[in-house]
Amino acid sequence: MAESILEVTGLVKHYPLTQGILFKKQVGAVKAVDGVDFTLNKGETLGIVGESGCGKSTVAKMLVNLERPTEGSIKFKGEDISRMSGRALKAARRNIQMVFQDPYTSLNPRMTVGDIIGEPYEIHPEVAPKGDRRKRVQDLLDVVGLNPEYINRYPHQFSGGQRQRIGIARGLALRPEVIVADEPVSALDVSVQAQVINLLDRLQDEFDLSYIFIAHDLSIVRHISDRVGVMYLGRIVEIGKDEEIYDHPTHPYTQALLSAVPVPDPDARDHRERIILAGDVPSPTNIPSGCRFRTRCWKAQERCSLEVPLLAVPAEFRLASGPAAHDSACHFAEEKTVVPQEETPEATPDDLDQGAE
Ligand SMILES: Nc1ncnc2c1ncn2[C@@H]1O[C@H](COP(=O)(O)OP(=O)(O)O)[C@@H](O)[C@H]1O
Ligand code: SF4
Ligand SMILES: [Mg+2]
Repeated sequence: MAESILEVTGLVKHYPLTQGILFKKQVGAVKAVDGVDFTLNKGETLGIVGESGCGKSTVAKMLVNLERPTEGSIKFKGEDISRMSGRALKAARRNIQMVFQDPYTSLNPRMTVGDIIGEPYEIHPEVAPKGDRRKRVQDLLDVVGLNPEYINRYPHQFSGGQRQRIGIARGLALRPEVIVADEPVSALDVSVQAQVINLLDRLQDEFDLSYIFIAHDLSIVRHISDRVGVMYLGRIVEIGKDEEIYDHPTHPYTQALLSAVPVPDPDARDHRERIILAGDVPSPTNIPSGCRFRTRCWKAQERCSLEVPLLAVPAEFRLASGPAAHDSACHFAEEKTVVPQEETPEATPDDLDQGAE
C-alpha cells in the first residue's frame, strides 16, 4: 500500500458576495472550490487539470495555507493543517511549499536573487543559521542549474525559464516534503517548458518530494504525473492513474478536454474526433443542479439535473478490474476513444526541447 502524505477531504472555499457599503449583506457566494477530495501519496505526482476559473489555484492556496477552507480538512501525515495555529501551523507550513505560475510577477523586482531565495529563512531561522545562508542559497542556485555567482543579480536580469528556476530554488529552501506547483510552466515559452519540467522531475528524486502539479492542459501533466484529477467548476469530476485518464476516460468532460490536446501526427489528427462543448462554463455563483457539467454535456438526461453524480467507480465498471474502473462523477460514464491511436500523445521533452533559454 502506498503511504499517503496529503489527504484532502470535502474541501470547500466559498467567497461571500456582499451588497451595500455600510451594512454589508451577503447575497450569495462564489463557490470557487465546492467539495474536493483526493490523496497524494509519498513520492508521487498528482496532476490537477481544468479550464481557467475552475478552482485550481484556490485549492493550491488552501494546501499551502494562504487561504483557509470554508469546510473540509487537509491532512498532512494524518494531521489536519487547516485547523492548526501557532507553532504547529508554522512547522506544517514549512513542509508544504508552493511554486507560482508567473515567474515574471511572483519575484520581487527590488530584491536580489539571494534575498529572494533566502527569504524563507527569515521566517524559519532554525533551518539555516545566519552565517550559513549565503552558502545555502548558492547551493540552491547550483541545484536548479543556475550559476551560484548570480546571487547578487536582480530578477530582470534573467529569462523567464531562469526566473522559474529561482522560484523553484526558493520553494526548496526550507527542504519541504510536498511542493504545490501552480501552472509552473504556463507562462513560459514552449521551448523552455520541457526544461523546467525535467528539472522538477530530477529534483523530485533528489529531494524525495511529492508534487501537486497544476495545469490547464492535459498534455503538459502527462509527462510528469503518476495520477491525474480533472476539475470542473470547483470539483474533481474524474481521477485516476495516467493511462486510465488518457487512454480510458469515462467522463464526458475529460473526453472533451482530451479531444483538444494537440496531436503531432497529421494522420492521427485527421482521424480524431474533436468534441466541441456547447456554451460557456457557468458562473461559480450559480452552479447547475445535479451534475454541474450538464449545461454543456452532450449526453445529459433528466436524471443529470436531479441527482448529483458522486466521484466513485461507476457501477458498470465496478466488477471489472480494467483501466475504465476508476473514479468518475457521471451517471452515464462510458469509455470513448478520443484519439484513435495506440497511445495518447504526450508532449515529450524532445518535442518541446528545441531551443535554449
Ligand atoms: N478572493 C476571491 N474572491 C472572490 N472570488 C474569487 C477569489 N479568488 C478566486 N475567485 C474566483 O474563484 C474561481 C476559481 O478561481 P481560481 O481558483 O483562481 O481558478 P483557476 O486557478 O482554476 O483558474 C474563479 O471564478 C475566481 O474568479
Ligand atoms: S452525469 Fe449526465 S450531465 Fe453529467 S457528465 Fe454524466 S451524462 Fe453528462
Ligand atoms: Mg490558477
